[in-house]
Amino acid sequence: MKHSKILFLLIFITNAFVAKADEGMWLPQLLGKLNESRMKSLGMKISAEDIYSINKGSLKDAIVSFGGFCTGEVISTKGLVLTNHHCGFDAIQNHSTLQNNYIRDGFWSKTNADEIPNKGLFATFIVRIDDVSKEALAGVTANMSEAERMAAIDKNLQQINKNTKKEATQKSFTRGFFEGNQYYLFVTETYNDVRLVGAPPSAIGNFGKDTDNWVWPRHTGDFSMFRIYASKDNKPADYSVDNVPFTPKKSLNISIDGIAENDFTMVFGFPGRTTEYLYSAAVEQIRTVNDPAKIAIRDKALNIIDGFMRKDEGIKIQYAAKYASIQNAYKKWQGEVLGLTRTDGVGRKKTQEIEFQKRVDANPSLKEKYGTLLQTLEAGYADIKSLVLARDYYQEIVSKIEIFTIVAQLNSLANAFEKNGQKGFDEAKLKVKAMLEDFMKEFNPKVDRKLFEGLMEMYVKNQPANVVSPMVKTLYDNGIAAAADKIYGENTFTDLSKLNVLIDGKPEDLVAFMKTSNTLALQKDLLATYQTAVQKDLTAVQNRITLAQRTYMQAQMDVFKEKTFFPDANSTLRVTFGKVQGYKPRDGVYFDFKTDLDGVMEKYKPGDYEFDVPEKLRTLYKNKDYGQYSVAGKMPVCFIATNHTTGGNSGSPALDAYGNLIGLNFDRVWEGTMSDINYDPTICRNIMVDIRYVLFIVDKFAGADWLVKEMKLVHPKKK
Ligand code: ARG
Ligand code: GLU
Repeated sequence: MKHSKILFLLIFITNAFVAKADEGMWLPQLLGKLNESRMKSLGMKISAEDIYSINKGSLKDAIVSFGGFCTGEVISTKGLVLTNHHCGFDAIQNHSTLQNNYIRDGFWSKTNADEIPNKGLFATFIVRIDDVSKEALAGVTANMSEAERMAAIDKNLQQINKNTKKEATQKSFTRGFFEGNQYYLFVTETYNDVRLVGAPPSAIGNFGKDTDNWVWPRHTGDFSMFRIYASKDNKPADYSVDNVPFTPKKSLNISIDGIAENDFTMVFGFPGRTTEYLYSAAVEQIRTVNDPAKIAIRDKALNIIDGFMRKDEGIKIQYAAKYASIQNAYKKWQGEVLGLTRTDGVGRKKTQEIEFQKRVDANPSLKEKYGTLLQTLEAGYADIKSLVLARDYYQEIVSKIEIFTIVAQLNSLANAFEKNGQKGFDEAKLKVKAMLEDFMKEFNPKVDRKLFEGLMEMYVKNQPANVVSPMVKTLYDNGIAAAADKIYGENTFTDLSKLNVLIDGKPEDLVAFMKTSNTLALQKDLLATYQTAVQKDLTAVQNRITLAQRTYMQAQMDVFKEKTFFPDANSTLRVTFGKVQGYKPRDGVYFDFKTDLDGVMEKYKPGDYEFDVPEKLRTLYKNKDYGQYSVAGKMPVCFIATNHTTGGNSGSPALDAYGNLIGLNFDRVWEGTMSDINYDPTICRNIMVDIRYVLFIVDKFAGADWLVKEMKLVHPKKK
């Protein structure tokens, strides 16, 4: 009896608290200390030093932050970079015209000379990472207010940055980890001449579009290629015709031997943000309050935009990128709610909290420090619930009614004049004009007006009166159509040529015009109401919670000594590892770990916006003309593994046991998007495009075999 009880407890504790098999986004410089043996036990054949080293070229020297929003990797000694199609999309779109429609038809350079420069696009390498926690937290005491603490740390961090040894072409920045319990310094080197080399047609690079987004089984060739250029001495340089292809310290070898289920795999990249150590009430709020509210608002917005896109070809092109971006998070949140619910994410947290409290209560020194911590968190989240809901409503709604963005731009110009005179105005004018020039290309007043009508209705009707702008309420009481007439009747804000007349005229006239604007008055009232009725209290409660969550983070590390903790993602370089593996999404269903070209053809709908297949690809399929990239007569397309990834990992390399490139990360599976909050190894999978499909498309479909010749293909499995 006694024994079985202990055994039960042991199993229970093991399941609940030991780091789950493949969870974690690890700091590359700590792999040797924390993860190497586990990685080797899963099949890794290289050392932690091969992945991250400051003494020799290592895998990290082939990884770049691509434009700050995605990951890319260097795949040739001539600076060729691989990333996702959706990461390169902006560049591809910018160079597309009706005659040269690279979005629809793809683009492939034939020589270096055809590669297209991209203003503003950059690739950043990480030179080294140092622990600066002690220096960052020097002089910080427990009884400081959050504001005092931040000020003290900011001062320390500035000093750290100043004292950092780095070359003239390098920069450095610091980041807080484990909710600000630790700090790391990053020395970086950024290349600003990054040129477009190639992209497949959208019918391959974004095959399945929104319907397949976040979904497995997947058949998307989500990749594009760029090249880093450097000065003649191989240093970072702004674009110049004299620049030459960059010679990297390290480029990835590419395995064309493919993958098998249970193979070791790791993903190296820049995951954006996760919150894995929240208190249960916070997770419950995300699941039942915040996600549902944001989903409902986006559902309305998407319906309105879609209605226009279906009827009007022009609007369809104008709103395509915007629609995809609103839709991406909208769909992800639905998967998140589903996953949290199905795996009882909240119940799991609660079980963990019970054990936490038990251990704390049993230890006098822990009890003194953390005895009432969970109550503090409970109270904090109870107080913040209605405030974060109001914040989500405000942010989601106001950002989608774009006339407010336009009017805010003009107002900033008027303010610049009133504050800093003609000189301030002239400076601001350049930026505002460039912004509006770009913005208005993807703006349609009819669509915006319907968004105003639909979303303002939710703003007024679904919220308590105290957080609703009085002016919106009055407008609404007199009928929303009349209100919209009043706002959209001021058609200066919805017409670029009229905006330009105003901007190019006398600043005094602009100031006078803004003073009479209904739209500006409304925008200001919305903002003021938000600031007084929501933001003030929100900041106060948020500060309490930030302190409590930071303490809870440290407390979890102090209490669960048997667990190895990884810091939440914060857009810094991380390694995640796992195994190639299928999964069981629900009762009676099992998903295979890979897909192939047969599946593309199964989904093929001639002429369809999402599932059309280019004729050349159909021909290659019919002739089984796969070159050296097929396996047993099949052309692999995508595969999944247990790597713990998130947004920002798009374009990250998937590497095999030897560090060879085997795939390109681009998504996660529907049931597992809650891995940002509660990773579950049974259903959380990252989705990658098989590198053999990438090479097949480059070589056989696009005929750009000169690029394949640049790469180093290897056969790790054929000894
Ligand atoms: N879900 C992926 C990500 O979060 C892919 C998004 C791009 N594709 C799309 N259909 N919107 O970025
Ligand atoms: N598509 C995502 C990105 O752009 C990656 C998918 C995810 O969130 O895991 O980073």
